[in-house]
Amino acid sequence: MPEIPLSQPDITDLEKKAVLEVLETPCLTLGPKAEEFERNIAEYAGRKYAVAVNSGTSALHLIIRALGIKQGDEVITTPFSFISSSNCLLYERAKPIFVDIDPKTLNIDPLKIEEKITEKTKAILAIDVFSLSADWDKLKEIAEKHEIHLIEDSAEALGSEYKGKKCGSFGRASIFSFFPNKQITTAGEGGVILTDDKEIADSCYSMRNQGRRQESNKWLEHVRLGYNYRMPEVCAAVGIVQLKRINEILAKRNKAASLYNEKLKEIKGIELPDSSGSWFVYVIRVDKKDERDKIIKQMVEKGIQCSNYFYPIHLQPFYKKLFGYKKGDFPISEDISQRTVALPFYSNLSEKEIEFIVETLKGFL
Ligand SMILES: Cc1ncc(COP(=O)(O)O)c(C=O)c1O
Repeated sequence: MPEIPLSQPDITDLEKKAVLEVLETPCLTLGPKAEEFERNIAEYAGRKYAVAVNSGTSALHLIIRALGIKQGDEVITTPFSFISSSNCLLYERAKPIFVDIDPKTLNIDPLKIEEKITEKTKAILAIDVFSLSADWDKLKEIAEKHEIHLIEDSAEALGSEYKGKKCGSFGRASIFSFFPNKQITTAGEGGVILTDDKEIADSCYSMRNQGRRQESNKWLEHVRLGYNYRMPEVCAAVGIVQLKRINEILAKRNKAASLYNEKLKEIKGIELPDSSGSWFVYVIRVDKKDERDKIIKQMVEKGIQCSNYFYPIHLQPFYKKLFGYKKGDFPISEDISQRTVALPFYSNLSEKEIEFIVETLKGFL
């Protein structure tokens, strides 16, 4: 069996054709494809505005700036996430204040938030981790009560829903990432900011394009500090096709996850993932945390790419150095982190590959 990657994008001839068509045009960035992609993704998520950028990390950074979060401010978030959801605060010298997760949903535990709110708290930045929705009603209630912003990092949850509404539609602003391991990609890198707030959208349109005035035809007039966070047209063109194919892609991911569920359900010593999201990753948890790294190593030696997922942010070396965090600070995040094994997962993963992965895993458990 050839090596099985951890993830892999689902690219067809349609995406390839779309790229070639853009390359025939004079406009390779900030053009009609980015605008079309923005319209389509805003409609999909049920938002008024979408701002396409070059990564999910850039999208988070622009939201933090658009909300005026700055040095001395605190933002409540969780350590069980990819590092961008905290780094975006450090870019503006704001401080992430971590709150542990609910062991079932793996998302921020709303019951633990209020004790961390101070007069410095400006926002709650919650994540729909592994495509599982955070508890947006409870988060909204807390944010409104304390008059702070609510931000949704939905990088991993395109297509997921919370009480019949799409993830990516909660909070003052939200983001998706289109990195190639996500449900859909914009050919390498990409992200988007979603909001119903025109002021936030206008500020983000301007900041992603070097701080130019949005509607200005004066190309060299810069009205605020900005960045080059633009999404290239070839990326937007791929995004348009991928978004048209989203139902097909999510159905394939769902099928692969169901096959895993079926074949793994009798195996002792592991816990299967929650099935309520749109399937970003397939992450099991082993009971014996001391054996987790050995299992991953043995799987990789057999040509099956597996990984731990995530290493908690507060224990990342530079966070420990910056803030003095130590083991034991967020016990639930740490316990889950030590037991995770992400198995290969992508929409074209075949039943034969899943059988091979499951049989190999059984042998090592
Ligand atoms: C929860 C979360 N937030 C933010 C990001 C950042 O997205 P990107 O990799 O597109 O910068 C990711 C990406 O993997 C993520 O998983």
